[in-house]
Amino acid sequence: MEYVLTATKDEARAGSYYDKIAAFYDLTFKLNGYGRSLDQYFSNHPLPVSRGARILDAGCGTGLLTLALLRNMRFPVSITALDLSATSISAAKKTLDESSGRTQDVTFAEGNLLSLPFADNSLDLVVTSGALEYVPLGEGMSEIARVIAPGGHMLHLPCRPTPASTFLEILFRFKSHPRPQILAETERHFRMVHEYRFPPLHIIGWSKTAMLAQKR
Ligand SMILES: C[S@@+](CC[C@H](N)C(=O)[O-])C[C@H]1O[C@@H](n2cnc3c(N)ncnc32)[C@H](O)[C@@H]1O
Repeated sequence: MEYVLTATKDEARAGSYYDKIAAFYDLTFKLNGYGRSLDQYFSNHPLPVSRGARILDAGCGTGLLTLALLRNMRFPVSITALDLSATSISAAKKTLDESSGRTQDVTFAEGNLLSLPFADNSLDLVVTSGALEYVPLGEGMSEIARVIAPGGHMLHLPCRPTPASTFLEILFRFKSHPRPQILAETERHFRMVHEYRFPPLHIIGWSKTAMLAQKR
């Protein structure tokens, strides 16, 4: 389909697309209450990590999930926020600089989630929202699983097919993966801990779920 900007290890056009629309994306998702929904999720479901945890936000965009993670960590951690789009990373850095809290816990990296700059089994948690929709799912999830240590976790916020996600697919030029495929690919590397449906009154709940999985 024409609007799909599917990435490979060598070619990742989503980065240049997001270089153009980063400000629009950031504003839209700030206005739709995404950050508040994430805060509520994290306060009801504390992440299974401890002090000093090595965390990656794969496809961090303008940092909305990265910042929500940071707000909800009660101890120092080490978060790498990685994205293809340099403009999105600049926006994320600016928001981080303007925020309070342990901003020194976050470092940024420009890169492709299909070839992550981390050793095998080197991370405790990878979070990813709205980025695996731009890559072949099996490849993206295998690469994420590669860098997570056994017993570590992945928090994946996939888009689920709804009228709202169809609108977002056209606007942001991605393709949601079918739920059975997401579950099958997750099971290849992980044990599902929970799947959370955001409350229907939250706008994010119209298109997204949260899946927490533990690496086998
Ligand atoms: C819908 S935005 C989501 C941003 C952020 N995770 C959030 O929750 O707001 C998708 C982001 O994924 C990034 N992206 C797409 N394909 C990628 C890839 N192969 N590697 C790294 N980032 C990618 C895009 O540049 C964009 O910033």
